[in-house]
Amino acid sequence: MAAGRFVEMKKRGEKFVVLTAYDAPTARLEAEAGVDIVMIGDSVGTNVLGYASEREVTLDDMAHHIAAVRRGAPGVYLIGDLPFATYESEAQALASAARLAQAGADCVKFEGARPDIVRALKREGYEVCCHIGLESQHQEGKRRQGKTAEAAAKLLADALALDAAGADFLVLELIPRELAAKITERLRAPTIGIGAGADCDAQVLVVHDLAALGTRDFKHNRRYVELGAALRAAVASYARDVREGRFPAEENGFSMEAAELAALEK
Ligand code: KIV
Ligand code: NA
Repeated sequence: MAAGRFVEMKKRGEKFVVLTAYDAPTARLEAEAGVDIVMIGDSVGTNVLGYASEREVTLDDMAHHIAAVRRGAPGVYLIGDLPFATYESEAQALASAARLAQAGADCVKFEGARPDIVRALKREGYEVCCHIGLESQHQEGKRRQGKTAEAAAKLLADALALDAAGADFLVLELIPRELAAKITERLRAPTIGIGAGADCDAQVLVVHDLAALGTRDFKHNRRYVELGAALRAAVASYARDVREGRFPAEENGFSMEAAELAALEK
C-alpha cells in the first residue's frame, strides 16, 4: 500500500488517524474501528516490554511486534520504528529497514534530521516517516521542543530538508502548535502530530495512553477509557471468586455420561 493516498488526503484537507499497536488483537480492533495507520513505535519498550527507556528496544523486538500487528491487521498501512542506533549509516539503515519490511512494515520511521538517510531509503524503494521535535531516542530531560525562535527555526529548516529529501510523513512530537501549523503548511509530506496541536494533517497517540493502561499521564493525551482500572477490577473479582468457590460455576465445566462415571467407579 502506498503512502501517496495520504498525500492526497492532505491536499483535500482530510485528517487521518494514526494509533500505536504492538499486538495482533489490538491491531485488529483498531482496524475495525477505522484507524488509517497503525504505528508500531519503539514505545513498545516502555509500554509493553517493561524497559526503562526506548533505547533498550532492539530490531528483533520491533520485527517481533510488527509481525504480530501485521497478522492482526493484514490490510492496514503500518509504520514501524527503527530503534535506537540502527540507522547510524546509510548501509545500516537499509539493513534495518529490510528487517522491518520483511516483518510487515509498509513504512519505516526514524528520529532526527538525517536527509541523507531518507534519500538512501527512498532510493531503495522504502517509504519513510521522519520524526522530529521530541526525540526519545536522542534526548533526555526536557520534553517540550521548539519553544524559542531559534529552536523553532531549526525544526522548520529540518522539516523542509526532510521533505525535500522525499520523506513520506513527518511526525512532530511536543512542539508548539504554531510551529506545527507552519511546518504542516510548508510541507508536501503529511504531518502526524503528537502534542503538536490540531493543525497537523494527522494525529497519533500511544494506545496505552489513550486507554489509560499505563502508569503515566500526559497533558498531550486524552484518556478515552479507563482500561487499566477496569482490568484491575476484573482481575480482583476473578481472584475473589476463585478463593470463595464462585468460579468456575456449573456452566463453565462439563460432566461425564452417567454410564461412563459408573464404569469408572466400578
Ligand atoms: O514510539 C512511538 O509510539 C512514537 C509515536 C509516539 C510517534 O514514536
Ligand atoms: Na518512537
